[in-house]
Amino acid sequence: MAKNTFYVTTPIYYVNDIPHIGHAYTTIAADVLARYKRLSGYDVFFLTGTDEHGQKIERTALESGEQPQSLADRVVERFKELWARLNISYNDFIRTTELRHKEAVRAFFQKVYQQGDIYLGDYEGWYCTPCESFITETQVSLENNCPDCGRPAERVKEKSFFFRMSKYQEPLLDHIEKNPAFIQPVSRRNEIISFVKGGLKDLSISRTSFRWGIPVPFQPDHIIYVWFDALTNYISAIGYPGNQGLFQNFWPADVHLVGKDILRFHTVYWPTFLMAAGLPLPKKVFAHGWWTVEGKKMSKSLRNVVDPNRLIDTYGADAVRYFLLREVPFGLDGDFSHETFIQRINSDLANDLGNLFNRSLVMIKKYFGGRLPTASTPGDGAILLKSKAEELYQELEPAFNELAFNKVLTRAWELINITNKYIDSSAPWVLAKEPARKSELGQVLYSVMETLRIITLTLAPFMPSTAEEMWYQLGREEDLWGQQINSIKDWGLSPAGIEVRPRKQLFPRLERDISLKFKEEITDRGAALIPEPQAPGSDPRPPIPSLISLAQFQQVDLRTARVLEAEVVKGSKKLIKLKLDLDYEKRTVVAGIAQSYQPEELLGKTVILVANLEPTKLMGIESQGMILAADTDEATGKLALATFTDQVKPGTRLR
Ligand code: ME8
Ligand code: MG
Repeated sequence: MAKNTFYVTTPIYYVNDIPHIGHAYTTIAADVLARYKRLSGYDVFFLTGTDEHGQKIERTALESGEQPQSLADRVVERFKELWARLNISYNDFIRTTELRHKEAVRAFFQKVYQQGDIYLGDYEGWYCTPCESFITETQVSLENNCPDCGRPAERVKEKSFFFRMSKYQEPLLDHIEKNPAFIQPVSRRNEIISFVKGGLKDLSISRTSFRWGIPVPFQPDHIIYVWFDALTNYISAIGYPGNQGLFQNFWPADVHLVGKDILRFHTVYWPTFLMAAGLPLPKKVFAHGWWTVEGKKMSKSLRNVVDPNRLIDTYGADAVRYFLLREVPFGLDGDFSHETFIQRINSDLANDLGNLFNRSLVMIKKYFGGRLPTASTPGDGAILLKSKAEELYQELEPAFNELAFNKVLTRAWELINITNKYIDSSAPWVLAKEPARKSELGQVLYSVMETLRIITLTLAPFMPSTAEEMWYQLGREEDLWGQQINSIKDWGLSPAGIEVRPRKQLFPRLERDISLKFKEEITDRGAALIPEPQAPGSDPRPPIPSLISLAQFQQVDLRTARVLEAEVVKGSKKLIKLKLDLDYEKRTVVAGIAQSYQPEELLGKTVILVANLEPTKLMGIESQGMILAADTDEATGKLALATFTDQVKPGTRLR
């Protein structure tokens, strides 16, 4: 008989930035679930990957003077390295620039088109590039900012293919209502229900104003909308449009794990695309909460983005995995602080678990020459341990099914703490003094060791290397990953006579100063940085990019330019459109300086232009370069233009 299958996914992450604890969080959760299901006998397919197309990636690449593909090739390695360090046991890693994916996206688009649900039209409205989302007139804020991320949206007017999402409003609502498990947690489900009830409009699913993506097969001047492209990863990786093999075994997915930021894409767009293509919907989409750092939103400008690599260097991968899933119930928001992190490591891992494990093995060594004593009938105390272990077993499956990771860990720690108390109250060191009580001593220690077996298996999905180490020290020769998690319900499976192998401490205690060290450290972005409690900008040590050669610098064509004309861009508060004279030619440049300068003040000024920057469209206007300025007040967005103390001829190269 074929095994039960289980398909779990993470979002595919954008390659415009390197991974931080937010990305690690989702991926660790997916890994824990995948490992648990494997230990439960399921045939698991665990997918992660990277989202490499779209305007955001194209812009990030251009800003650093790089081709989007080479940016993606570089950053994808950062993700893969981190997943290796965190022991992420994914079965496949999909990149949207792979041929297998592009073919699947084209086929999926084609399928929805043939079905009659895609038509050509004109899009006019707003677009948020950081979110890669279309925003309607009613959604955009008064300041023309994105309702989701608060950053400025851009005005867009272009030819576009539309998906008849409106047609699926009722079928989707019906599906959500008939399948309470489809969207979780329930508060998020309610949000989506009211969103859908508010009315679904047809969705623009192609763009014509940039090139970095997958062209529409029959109309290649259109680039397929990056979310249509990205969401398809969940089927492209398992062989769509083929419907045999992996696809047959694993679709529909059992659970898509996502952050709450992208729930709408997964529970409105994705299911309606699938309905149109005649494919079954994923069984569950679970949106977890949002991490802040020391009370603040993680952001590059605050330089408080936590690099998981630094955490792993300092605390170890399993401590990171444990902390993230223990600290916050999955689904709620959480705050990361080094102080709490260290507290948890010291109290839960070093004290409770580490000490229990260590002292138990030491006693086996001391009183039984390292060999597990024979299991005779358990005494009263052991009955308590046994029933607590049974309780843990009963709750395991329901808790994992609701993705209540912290509940599993809480239960496991109850067992750990009871076992510690049991040792204290039965005082093996007293029993050991009386030769007549040797068999009682054996009973006590056998029960403790049996509990450690159960704890090791329960913790294995969460802390895989620690569990392997425990399994080894417990004297077990069999492969930990070949075990069945179900075996924790059977008391007495630890074979008497096996020899324990105590060696290193599982978790050494950490000094609290480590957190201070983190606070002191100020390096480039990507390092774990905690903002000092001082005003932004007053930090004396800014992040410094790596050195470049003179030749690299000379690739930048900096030129003087005189402002001929200046006007505020209609519909924008920040942007000014400039006509610049370079003597040998004229340029149009759109600059975000309207909060600092009136257009009239700019006329006749000589500014510095980055003259060989690839042109980009801002609010529909092509900007042919960028002028240099420095922030004077980050809070209000005020800045000062770079200019000259003496007269300079326009078009002169800076060097
Ligand atoms: O949205 N707290 O990619 P992305 C918790 N490419 N989780 C966080 C987090 C935080 N502070 N920051 C990020 C995209 N995440 C698209 C997805 S899927 C078809 C396409 C996690 O790189 C969380 O899982 O912006 C969130 O949903 C995801 O990273 C967003 O990653
Ligand atoms: Mg994002």
